[in-house]
This record gives sequence, structure tokens and C-alpha cells, in this order.
Amino acid sequence: MSLINTQVKLAKRPDGLPKKDTWIFEKNPLREINKGEILIQNQFLSLDPAMRGWINNSRSYIPPVQIGEIMRAGTAGKIIKSKNTNFQVGTYVSGWGGVQQFTISDGLGFYKVDIKRSPLERYIGSLGMPGMTAYFGILEEGKIKKNDTVLVSGAAGAVGSIVGQIAKIKGCKVIGIAGGKKKCDYIIRELGFDGAIDYKNENLANGIKRNCSDGIDVFFDNVGGEILDCALIFLKKNARVVLCGAISQYNKIPIGPKNYLSLLVNRASMKGMIVFDYASQYKIAMKQIQKWISLGKLKSKEDIYEGIENFHEIFLKLFNGKKIGKLVLKINS
Ligand SMILES: NC(=O)c1ccc[n+]([C@@H]2O[C@H](COP(=O)([O-])OP(=O)(O)OC[C@H]3O[C@@H](n4cnc5c(N)ncnc54)[C@H](OP(=O)(O)O)[C@@H]3O)[C@@H](O)[C@H]2O)c1
Repeated sequence: MSLINTQVKLAKRPDGLPKKDTWIFEKNPLREINKGEILIQNQFLSLDPAMRGWINNSRSYIPPVQIGEIMRAGTAGKIIKSKNTNFQVGTYVSGWGGVQQFTISDGLGFYKVDIKRSPLERYIGSLGMPGMTAYFGILEEGKIKKNDTVLVSGAAGAVGSIVGQIAKIKGCKVIGIAGGKKKCDYIIRELGFDGAIDYKNENLANGIKRNCSDGIDVFFDNVGGEILDCALIFLKKNARVVLCGAISQYNKIPIGPKNYLSLLVNRASMKGMIVFDYASQYKIAMKQIQKWISLGKLKSKEDIYEGIENFHEIFLKLFNGKKIGKLVLKINS
């Protein structure tokens, strides 16, 4: 009897926040695998803000998901059938499995992971794309030095929480911007940030003044919009602004910063980054992050929800902020 695969496809391009009818939920029987192919039972699905960008019909760093296609997503799962000599049954892999319970692949783009070293879900979090983004973003793009003052937006999220902790390990003063008291307490008490600004309940400029009285050396921005604009005012001479993301702008026509002349006055730089450019170095970062975790210097938090049928509602948690750390959907046991 063939297995049934629940798949989520793009039904139409959303205007603003995705709605339930942005997606088609289908149950399809799985075909047999061919020579050279593997069948992966996806256990964890990575929910990432970038997925919102991938369903726009616009030029980007990666082609958009087409109408009727399975929604693109990172996954971690187990090989349950193999006709590919490079992958044995029982091996755990991570890669671009898409929003579906099972993936048939030739193995390209999937890499083996060791669940004895780290829990499977971590390979789509701090050891996956968000962790790689944080590592290369803050070290290679932010070029942090000891005693730098680093401001991070989206600080309680998958990328921001790792950025802040790496900057602390490197001897920086780290201030996070996050929504709500719970998240602000979390980044200070659990993650060791030096300060937090609750942008939902405090004037952001006052918060930055209070925490970064001498200004900002590095602003690692995950949010964009008004938060980016405000942070620009407080740059120090030769500051670096890392444009990692702009989640506040993903569901509308983006607005640009008014305060960009701060870059000129302060001889500062603002540069975009795409994590995929560092793919050849992921192994180095994974090894280092795993080491920091094992030494108790870095904490990895996954916020796990269950059920592929809940994909739409759980995906929206990225935009309403109702989660802490890396947002993960468990879709198979
Ligand atoms: N450049 C790259 O290669 C790359 C790679 C991975 C991720 N990214 C980007 O990095 C950023 C963070 O990604 P992530 O996976 O770590 O997501 P995340 O921070 O785990 O989740 C998103 C968070 O953004 C905050 N947020 C949502 N809407 C907001 C708004 N309107 N204003 C301010 N904050 C808002 C929420 O936190 P609060 O409750 O604190 O508001 C929410 O929890 C995203 O912009 C993503 O696109 C870039």
C-alpha cells in the first residue's frame, strides 16, 4: 500500500499577510522511487520569514515559488527508502524538502546530520540556515571587535538570538530589540545580553539612548522600516549596519530609511547579506556553534508546534511575534 503525502502548494500570491486561501492542502499517494533517488520522511519543517518573499512574483536572490508548486521550505528528516548509494536507509538529512510530509529526491542539496551530536530540529535552527546567517552575518559582515557596542533587532528570534550570543562570546556589549517583556527578559536572563529594548512598549530612540550612550558600532538588522531608520541616528564613526532582513516590510510596499545621511556623516557602511554566499563554509560554522553549545556558551531554542495541517496558522507566528527562538513545525514523528 502506498504512503499518502500531505503537501502544501501555493494557490495564489498574497496581497499583504498570507491568508488560508494562499495555500492548497493536498493528500497525494507517493510513487515508487527510481534508481538514484531517496525517500525522506520529513520530521521538522523550518518556518522562515524569507518564505514570505519567495511567494512574491519579483526578482530576488532565488526564483519565486510558482503557483501550484509545493511551498519551498527547509526540512530535517529520515531516509526511509533509498536507491542511491550515497544515502543509506535510516540516515538523517537536512535540506530543501518543501512543505510536505515526504520528499523524493536525488539527494542533491541534502546533507547528512548526526542526531547523536545534536537533536534533529537544531539542524534547521542554530545549526541550519538561521545559525549560519547569524555566524557569518555578525563575524564576516559585521566585523565585530572586542568592546564594540552591537545592537540587534529581532533579538529573541532564530537569527537575532544567535547573533547576540556570538557577539557576547567575542567580548562585545550587546543590546537587543524585541517585542514584549517576556522576550526582553529572555534575552537578558537566558542569553546574557547586556540590555533589551521592548520596542512595543518603549520609545525606541529613548531605549537606544539609555542602552547605547556612546552610540552603536554594529547594527544587525532583521526588521527594517522604522527600527532601521531610528537605529541609523545612533551610529558611531565607521559603524557597520548589516542588512540581514526586513520582516516589518515583507507584507507591504517597503519604505526606505530617511536617516541615511548618518552613513555619510559617520563614514559608516550598510551592506546586505545573503547566507547562501557562505555555503562553502557552513561546516566551519556548524562545528563552532556545536562547540559553543556543548561548552554552555550558546543556547539554542526551538519553539516547536505540531501538524502540517496547522502550517498556515503557525507560519503567521513569524509576523505576529507569538513565538520565541526558532519557529519549527513538527510534521511526522
Ligand atoms: N539575509 C539572509 O541570508 C537571511 C537568512 C535568514 C533570515 N534572514 C532574515 O532574518 C530576519 C530574522 O529571521 P528569523 O528566522 O530569525 O525570524 P525570527 O526573528 O525568528 O522571527 C521573526 C520575528 O520578527 C519580529 N517581527 C515580526 N514582525 C515585526 C515587525 N513588524 N516589526 C518588528 N519586529 C517584527 C517578531 O519578533 P518580536 O516579537 O520581537 O517583534 C518575530 O518573532 C528576517 O528578516 C529574515 O528574513 C535573512
